[in-house]
Amino acid sequence: MRDYVREGAVAVDFTMGNGHDTLWLSEAVGEKGKVYAFDIQTQARDNTSALLESKGVPKNYTLILDSHDKVKNYVTEGIDVGVFNFGFLPGGDKNITTKRETSLAAVEAAVQLLNDNGALLIAIYPGHEEGRIEGELIEEQLSRLDVFGYTVAKFRLVNASTAPYFFIVEHNPKN
Ligand SMILES: C[S@@+](CC[C@H](N)C(=O)[O-])C[C@H]1O[C@@H](n2cnc3c(N)ncnc32)[C@H](O)[C@@H]1O
Repeated sequence: MRDYVREGAVAVDFTMGNGHDTLWLSEAVGEKGKVYAFDIQTQARDNTSALLESKGVPKNYTLILDSHDKVKNYVTEGIDVGVFNFGFLPGGDKNITTKRETSLAAVEAAVQLLNDNGALLIAIYPGHEEGRIEGELIEEQLSRLDVFGYTVAKFRLVNASTAPYFFIVEHNPKN
């Protein structure tokens, strides 16, 4: 994500979890930037808040306890970078995982919010059934994006079918 995250950028962490990605984004966008982070679990919000406070990052973040498909209720400006790290909270309840309907709606909203030259990074965990289906549906959704407006790539090991893999979506300015 380093190529896309500059000082002063607006970033969204769509799956806050234990806050590692939120922390990275907060440091990368700096004092003039903004980070919005979403999770549906209080445990995730509290773990993230504690991590960020312990690291003394600038107060450039807003932690939102709501589902990521509601992003437009909270983020009314364009975004430069969005991170999705799907699945369940490491160290938490494995039954509370991202679900296909809300994941697809959140990715669609993220694409609509993406500024020119902005990017989304999406991590998929196909080692569990919901993650496998989520990845297939997101690929189908992303494959429909206009090739002149977006570059969509997939990074996947071909000899490890259950290993996590990634999509990256770049929003290219139209000439
Ligand atoms: C793999 S973890 C994220 C890890 C995190 N990025 C980190 O750095 O620690 C996935 C997170 O997605 C959250 N989640 C599940 N459904 C969600 C939803 N509808 N909206 C937002 N977050 C959701 C889970 O509660 C879990 O904390």
